[in-house]
Amino acid sequence: MTTDRQVTMVGAPSLRPDVAAVGEEPLLEASGVSKVFAARGVQALDSIDLVLKRGQFASIIGPSGCGKSTLLKIMAGLVAPSGGRVVLQGTPVLEPRRDIGIMFQQATLLPWRTTIENVLLPIEIRDGSRAANARRDAVRALLDLVGLTNFEKAYPHELSGGMAQRVAICRMLVTEPAVLLLDEPFGALDELTREYMNVELQRVCLQKQATAFMVTHSIPEAVFLADVVYVMTPRPGRIAQVVPVDLPRPRTLEMMTEPGFAEVVRRVRSGLDRGGHG
Ligand SMILES: Nc1ncnc2c1ncn2[C@@H]1O[C@H](COP(=O)(O)OP(=O)(O)O)[C@@H](O)[C@H]1O
Ligand SMILES: [Mg+2]
Repeated sequence: MTTDRQVTMVGAPSLRPDVAAVGEEPLLEASGVSKVFAARGVQALDSIDLVLKRGQFASIIGPSGCGKSTLLKIMAGLVAPSGGRVVLQGTPVLEPRRDIGIMFQQATLLPWRTTIENVLLPIEIRDGSRAANARRDAVRALLDLVGLTNFEKAYPHELSGGMAQRVAICRMLVTEPAVLLLDEPFGALDELTREYMNVELQRVCLQKQATAFMVTHSIPEAVFLADVVYVMTPRPGRIAQVVPVDLPRPRTLEMMTEPGFAEVVRRVRSGLDRGGHG
């Protein structure tokens, strides 16, 4: 059986010089975003403000049920906020858009389609099969990027969980979105695979100079990937604290045992604790 470690590329593409890459202009902005699920009388979110700069990786962490997925769906245009708004590249997000890429915990690949056909699906749905066919070479490059070079013709049942999520990464990237929205993308994977996929996700994001927003309930995961961690309170979700992560890139798993990493983890944890009492 092929493991996720074996499919990883040995010669990683060159990484961007990191400091200059995060721009100053806001790419995605949420202002005063609130959400009440009226039918059940649940206030999920209370006046969330956040700004994502171009090239920035932001994590958002909070206890289960605090509204993280709701916030991500609002940012994706899948759910309408009760108040406030989300603006991406200067335009309010009112519905799902071509410039937004999303990834969830489950890859939800179509079992009767091969890897390459699954990745091409968003293009096929949006622009038709001729347009999809024209993108085959671009998809092969994406599959190379995530270490799936030899799995173009594989079916989902032939892939491990980590490999399926690699396919989902390609499917998210195929439309060349301006922002990536990730809801616990590796939450269903075992711990070791999950750590490894985080290293891979970082590599892909550096290579693509991606702007990304990731939901997680793991403190180390939030810190490992992020330039900034937003800490949320229990429901109704509010931003309790914003913790910058000034650790050099590319980050390695070894860095997670170092004092600098532990210090950021401590700050996130204290933000969570304080949020719990607020
Ligand atoms: N469609 C919905 N209808 C009613 N309540 C919902 C709906 N979606 C989420 N909620 C409620 O909103 C709260 C936040 O949910 P969610 O955003 O999934 O939290 P998280 O992702 O942080 O675990 C929860 O109390 C949940 O039950
Ligand atoms: Mg959730």
